[in-house]
Amino acid sequence: MADIEGQTEQKEFYLDIPAKNQAFFLKGSGALDWGIQNRLSRIFNPCSGKTVMLAIDHGYFQGPTTGLERVDVNIVPLVPYADALMLTRGILRSSIPSSGRNAIVLRASGGPSILKELSNEQLAMDMEDAVRLNACGVAVQVFVGGEFETQSIHNLTRLVDRGNRYGVAVLGVTAVGKNMTRDAKYLRLAVRICAELGAHIVKTYFCPEGFETVAASCPVPLVMAGGKKLPELDALKMAHNAIQQGASGVDMGRNIFQADAPVAMIQAVGKVVHEGLKPEHAYDLYQTLKNEKKIEAPVGR
Ligand code: R5P
Repeated sequence: MADIEGQTEQKEFYLDIPAKNQAFFLKGSGALDWGIQNRLSRIFNPCSGKTVMLAIDHGYFQGPTTGLERVDVNIVPLVPYADALMLTRGILRSSIPSSGRNAIVLRASGGPSILKELSNEQLAMDMEDAVRLNACGVAVQVFVGGEFETQSIHNLTRLVDRGNRYGVAVLGVTAVGKNMTRDAKYLRLAVRICAELGAHIVKTYFCPEGFETVAASCPVPLVMAGGKKLPELDALKMAHNAIQQGASGVDMGRNIFQADAPVAMIQAVGKVVHEGLKPEHAYDLYQTLKNEKKIEAPVGR
């Protein structure tokens, strides 16, 4: 009897199988604590290793910019197609249903409006409130070369200390001033400073020449900012190029919510990001979804 019990015990403990020690799927993130890794796994899809983050935080310095006048009407229909939402706590609490399953990345810096010097930002949110809102990440603007460069970098480092304390990922956003060149040399500098100072994710703009060196010099996941509105095919090409050259996703706003058909556009972007769909095929999908919407609209009335 004792022998049988012993054999059963041995079987249940799987003594012949070594304990699993799985590597974390995001670059540069293997040494992070479980809580941050878990939150990063909600921002980035563990299957593709990528994210489609929908940026709708523009109002924190621009007010109700085109496409964001009514978040409840124009943006909520896009929410199911995004992996993560990047937004302010005010819009989250007022306009986004709490039943959604998206990862939340909260804008955590602010201060000046478009009428003033934009680099003069300060931290604008407690980490405790981010945790209360079940945020996976917080975002802070870093103005490398800007008038208040040092202040903005201190905002990042203070937020990283708090993020590490609470297990919340910090997204460093490289803000490129109006008079700065968005070339690979500048973006490498700005991106690397954010990563060196502890950002868990970095967001930067795409540059047509040398973006792969920007991605390679960033030791943590890099997401591409969308920038000003482009024709839809061009925006899909830009997203595709960024992913092929090493980006771990996109954090796009205007090129999605200002598109002719935003719900179709975010789905096309998702195919490019997660499945590597060629931009021309993604554009075909965009057109198909856009036309389907036109046919369906009268039925819903
Ligand atoms: C701007 O400062 C905000 O961080 C936006 O989230 C960012 O610019 C991305 O939005 P867009 O794709 O419209 O440039």
